[in-house]
Parts: sequence; structure tokens; C-alpha cells
Amino acid sequence: MDKNFYITTPIYYPSAKPHMGHAYSSIVADFFARFKRIQGYDVFFLTGTDEHGLKIQRAAEKSKMDPKSFCDQISKTFFDLSKILNLSNNDFIRTTEERHKKSVTELWNILEKKNEIYLSKYSGWYSVSDEAFYSDDEIENKDNIKISKISGSAVEWLEEESYFFKLSKWQEPLLKFYSDNPNFILPVTRKNEVINFVKSGLKDLSVSRKSFSWGINVPSNKDHVIYVWLDALTNYLSALNYPNTNDNLYKKFWPASIHLIGKDILRFHAIYWPAFLLAADISPPKRVYGHGWILSGEEKMSKSKGNILDPIEIIDKYGLDPLRYYLIKEVSFGNDGNISQQKLESCINSDLANNYGNLCQRVISFIDKNLDLKTPNQFKFNSDDLKVLDEFNINFEKIVQSIDNQNINFYVNFIQDQLFAANKYFNDQEPWKKKLDKNRLNTILYTSLELIRKISIMLYPIIPDSSLKVLGIFDISESDVDFNSIKNNEILKTNNKLNKISILFKKIEQND
Ligand code: MSP
Repeated sequence: MDKNFYITTPIYYPSAKPHMGHAYSSIVADFFARFKRIQGYDVFFLTGTDEHGLKIQRAAEKSKMDPKSFCDQISKTFFDLSKILNLSNNDFIRTTEERHKKSVTELWNILEKKNEIYLSKYSGWYSVSDEAFYSDDEIENKDNIKISKISGSAVEWLEEESYFFKLSKWQEPLLKFYSDNPNFILPVTRKNEVINFVKSGLKDLSVSRKSFSWGINVPSNKDHVIYVWLDALTNYLSALNYPNTNDNLYKKFWPASIHLIGKDILRFHAIYWPAFLLAADISPPKRVYGHGWILSGEEKMSKSKGNILDPIEIIDKYGLDPLRYYLIKEVSFGNDGNISQQKLESCINSDLANNYGNLCQRVISFIDKNLDLKTPNQFKFNSDDLKVLDEFNINFEKIVQSIDNQNINFYVNFIQDQLFAANKYFNDQEPWKKKLDKNRLNTILYTSLELIRKISIMLYPIIPDSSLKVLGIFDISESDVDFNSIKNNEILKTNNKLNKISILFKKIEQND
């Protein structure tokens, strides 16, 4: 079986500094990347910035900067955020890089050569904020301004010479592609929206602009720049050194396993992108998953709405792992989620400090006092011990499947249940009363350590830093973290010195 896994985030517009919505896409992608790595996959995880187009050109003009210096500055804030979020990305691509231009130019040339592109004139609505064309029936009036019904952003009338991609020709092949690949678009509700949209009829797509210059030139006509979405989507190929299809990265990782995106950009990824690729004779990605939005109140968090929450401020106040845990646990994956500091604080106190942190501290300090901080030298499991330990191998396939179906909530709930069970086990077994029964005492402690090990491995993709701190108790380092080992109840060496750990999560005083 193919043990390569290629996952991407959307590439972000460096028109303003990153907010929580961007952090969310990246953290979730990192979660999947880390999970697949510890499952034994060779993973390529890509993120980056989408730097061309009118939106960026205008943002640069507003800041009185040339677009490239403007992008350098803001792209760096996204790059820095990738470090702050502890993303395990293998590459960070910028669409202003030469390697990307080469790749886009090649894709354009192929499409032109295959007669998929023709010159004509576009007249219609355009939203600079979305970098998207809208038809008349997708427009409405609000306070005397024309806006897109879909995104709510303002549109302007556009009339200019433009190259068109023969999207209409791909309507039937796309529908066939969706039915041959029923899991190409997830979640299912979004898939139905896309299919209905395609069934309602696809028009040819304008794929070049003449009235501004910030982009990649159409190779055969320098008066035009390539439409920013055709440019941006190609990043997923550029990072694998396309057009060099003999390159190892390309051979190993294309087609991508999953493009993780927000639901707002599904049309581009699930319609335009596979159509461009099919037209160029390149395999489309295996999956596009459109997650929900992080809301602020009832609205999407976005710069234009002025309701953003700065991830860096939250991290400064609470730490990174609490934020990662909270976003992954509290937002029902695929749906929109409202986040609040109060809920974040409860999550830190109950799940992280009480359930996880306390369990680790209690068990280790008990072993420190009673067993000279060593793993017990012998043990014999009884049915109580096996009941808690075996949950992991009994549910193993289910857990793996939950990840492969992007069912993050099952994964997190499973961990929570096991944390609850492990705490209950330690309380119910009352090791403090078994000091005279050495065999039983040893077994309870060995079981508790194994539970901590298994739970920490499962927590690694969510809160890598904290999980590695705990696994440090057993000298398990990052490269040793092996998801498959959670099936096994006897990984820890007996009579082995353990390491102490400091407090993992500080409880927050809540005033309610
Ligand atoms: N540049 C395009 C993507 C090109 S991909 C080839 C773009 N950029 S963006 O910066 O506007 O948004 C990128 C992604 O950020 C969104 O698709 C979504 O994944 C995420 N989010 C932005 N705001 C969001 C929320 N409020 N909530 C959750 N995610 C949202 O679109």
C-alpha cells in the first residue's frame, strides 16, 4: 500500500496579518500531518502565501509600498506564525518565487497547447476581496452597494479582453469524476452543494486580466497576467517541483492526499482545480475537505469585518498547546465554531490541567515516593487492568478510520474517554492502600504508566510539545513516537529509571 501522504493548507493572502481563522486551517492540517507521520507514513505537509492579484496590489498601494516588498513583509508574519504554531510543514511556498512561476507558466502552456484556452472579452461582476467572478443571479443590492450573495463581499463591474478556460466543456467529465470518486469532496453536505452547482451549468472561466500587472504574465501575451486562482492553485504542484514530473517529490506525493481548505474556497478547489488538471492530463487530488469557519459572534472572522482574534495574543496569554487543543476539540470539524476565551479557560482547567496534567503528576509522584521513580520490575495484569488497557487495541481500526475520514471529533472524544477511564482506574484501584501487596501495587502502577504512554501518543498530533514532555518521562523522543505501539500493553521496560516532569498546564482563575 502507498505509504505517502501529501497534505496542504490553503496558501494565505498576505493582504493583512494572520488571524485565528488562518491559524485554525494550519493547526488542523498539522494535526493530520503529525498523525500520519506517527502512523508510519512519509508525509509532505505544505503551507505558504498567495501573493499575486488585484487584492494584494491594492493592499500594497494602500500601504504605499511596491507589491513585492509589501508581500515580503506580510508573508513573513505568516511564516513566523507557522513557527509559533509549531507546524511541522516541510515547505513554505510563496507564489512570487521563481519555482512557482515556472510551474504556472508550464501549466498555462499545456492548457493553451491543448486548445483549452481562447481569447475573448469578459464583462461581468468581480469581487476583488474574493478574487472571484460572479454571475448576475449571484449578486444582490445591499445599502446601494452590489455584493455577492455567496460571500457578502462588494463586487465591481469588469469589462476587458480576457483569456477563457473552456470550463463548460468539463461539466460532464467533472460530474463523472465526482461519481467515480465519491470521497473527493468532504464533508458530504458540501459535496452536494458543489454537485448541484456544476449540474446547474458551468460557463467558461476568465483566466487572465489585462487592467493590472501584479501577477504572472501569460507567456504568449505579456499584456495579460494569469488569473490569480489559476496561479495560486498551482502552488500545490510547484512545491513538488512540477513541471519536472520525474522529480522524486512529484512522483512520491502527487496526486495530493488532501487539500484542507475553508468552505469559502471550495468552488475553486473542487471545480476549477480538477477541471484545470483534467484538461492538462494531470491527476486531480484525492480529496478536498472544506472545513467550517471560526465565527466571531454570528459572523465569519475576517479582516474586512474587523472582528478578528489575534492567535498570537491568545498564545501569549494561554500558551500554544491549550489553543491547539481547544480549536481541535471544540470546533465540530466541518461545521462553523464560535470560540470564546471563557470556553478556552474551562478547557484548560478541566481537560488539560485536571484530566491530563494531574494524572501524570499523581502517578509519577506516587512512583517517586514508593518505587524510587522506576518502572515496576514485575507485574501481572488482571481483568480490571486489561479492561482499560485494551480499549486502545479494540478501537484501533476505528481510530485510524476516524482520521482517514477526517472525523477529528471521534478521535478527541476517544482520548477524553480514556483520560476519564485512566483517572477513574487510578482512583478505584487505590494503590495507596496496596503498599503491602507488592505484586498488585506494581501492576497498578505499570498499568497507569502504560495508560499515560498510550494517551500521550494519541495526544501528540494535537499538543505535540506537552505530549513530548510527558513521553520524556519514559525517554521516548519525537522520532520514537509510534502510533501503532498503542496496541501493545507492555512497551515500557521494567525496572527502568523514569524522569520527573514539571507542571504541564497551570489552572486559570475563572471569574464566573
Ligand atoms: N489565497 C486564498 C487561498 C488560495 S489556496 C490555493 C485564500 N486566502 S485567505 O487568506 O483569504 O484564506 C485562506 C483560508 O483561511 C480560508 O480558506 C480558510 O481556510 C481560512 N480562513 C480564513 N478565515 C477563516 C475563518 N474565519 N475561519 C476559519 N477559517 C477561515 O482564500
